[in-house]
Amino acid sequence: MYVRLVANKFHRTSSRLTEFFNRSNQSNCFNQLNCVNQSNCVKQLCFNYLSKRELSITSSKMSQQMLSQNLADSDAELYQLIQNEKKRQLRGLEMIASENFTSTSVLNALSTCLHNKYSEGYPNARYYGGNEFIDQIELLAQKRSLTAFGLDPANWGVNVQPYSGSPANFEVYTALVGPHGRIMGLDLPDGGHLTHGYYTEKKKVSATSIFFESMPYKVDPNTGLIDYDALAANVKIFKPKLIIAGVSCYPRHLDYKRFREIADSVNALLLADMAHVSGLVAAKQAPNPFEYSDIVTSTTHKTLRGPRAGVIFFRRGVKSVDAKGVQIMYDYEEKINTAVFPGLQGGPHNNTIGAIATAMKQASTKEFAEYAQQVVKNAQHLATRLQEKGYKIVTNGTDNHIIWVDLRTVGLTGSKADKVLESVSIACNKNTVPGDTNALNPGGIRLGTPALTTRGFKEKDIDQVGEYLDQALKIAIQIKDETNSRLLKDFIVTLNQPKFQEQIKKLREDVENYAERFYMPGMDV
Ligand SMILES: Cc1ncc(COP(=O)(O)O)c(C=O)c1O
Repeated sequence: MYVRLVANKFHRTSSRLTEFFNRSNQSNCFNQLNCVNQSNCVKQLCFNYLSKRELSITSSKMSQQMLSQNLADSDAELYQLIQNEKKRQLRGLEMIASENFTSTSVLNALSTCLHNKYSEGYPNARYYGGNEFIDQIELLAQKRSLTAFGLDPANWGVNVQPYSGSPANFEVYTALVGPHGRIMGLDLPDGGHLTHGYYTEKKKVSATSIFFESMPYKVDPNTGLIDYDALAANVKIFKPKLIIAGVSCYPRHLDYKRFREIADSVNALLLADMAHVSGLVAAKQAPNPFEYSDIVTSTTHKTLRGPRAGVIFFRRGVKSVDAKGVQIMYDYEEKINTAVFPGLQGGPHNNTIGAIATAMKQASTKEFAEYAQQVVKNAQHLATRLQEKGYKIVTNGTDNHIIWVDLRTVGLTGSKADKVLESVSIACNKNTVPGDTNALNPGGIRLGTPALTTRGFKEKDIDQVGEYLDQALKIAIQIKDETNSRLLKDFIVTLNQPKFQEQIKKLREDVENYAERFYMPGMDV
């Protein structure tokens, strides 16, 4: 664009000069300007003609023009890719349990001038000037976060700066556990998260298992339910400094009271990582972790439906009163704030903090409570429909937004099912299921209802979703039956046969035509 503008300006000037040149004595002109030909001479005259000042105004105007352009005009290639993704989201059934479609106002806040500001530090204690309004925005985000979860600021504080859920957890361990301190979390293949200390025999996969010592607790392989008794026994051996009550793939409510008792039995701290269920907690559709926990972390982009970020809630105020009547205070606040900044992060993402503020406002509304209620209804409805169709649902149902499907009973693996579902525009993820022996070849899939519910899906629509899932899984079973090998690559070869491609194409069209009819927030942002 810049080049074109220079060219235009140059061209307009040069045509006038060419005219002048043609009318004047050419050889004289060549001599005077020491040029070899006409075009060179015109160019030289042209630059003489444009004063230095004019050139600099032209270039700053052109630079401003570039800075003011919309993405569609300034970068057609990227813009087109974003349009493709928009279309994919609109025409697909989004069933990844950790995803959601955020609101227009969250998207608005994300792309505001708040993005431009550096504000290392905390409200009223920044390392940079010009943070008057940034301070107010961060304080607003804090206030609304406490309100969304019904917390009294005398007893709870919150840090809204974590860039996402993973750093938030790491920051808590850094603050309260210390290097190589011991933590216990639900094992990843049993439904826990990487940042709860995941490692394998061969590798310390998560940095939380490199810098801290972790021991997992498990679900009962028969029921799929957390084995609290085994955890209670193991804490006596491992003596963790912190226990994590939190899940990425677990469809049942957590027993925070039991976690508290187990933590107290070894004087451990209890961290509730409510990332997956925080929207349900705000809407009182899931048990309240604040009642029993010392610290609560969350992402803000899953069921909470806000921007991609993390938050850390910590107890503050009086912890206990000793025998002499002296008050002992919680000391988490400073440790956590220091671990976030300057410990592990630099400048806060202020546009995201603005977006957290508006998401927390929404999460406190009656409409959001209705949404969260529908998320759970839809998940329970889908679990029942799939059971009626003969699929095994881990734990026999769900209390929340997750449906954990064990596909081993129909002879499929998660990877094969996921492949076919993706090819018919249904997004979910492969997942280990209790009793899986090979975590690299998981035996099931995880489905979730938060995103579809945002688009307005109700039980009757979920019936149709159940039909599409069943049709896709039946195609996967046929492909598996016609493949003389258990390898995914051979499965994909059969999947690519015209016979199956035809079935897949037809089903994909049905799914896409169906999905496209539903509302989608933020499509014009
Ligand atoms: C329970 C739990 N904690 C933490 C995280 C990490 O969040 P992020 O992906 O934002 O780092 C996740 C993400 O899936 C999660 O499920």
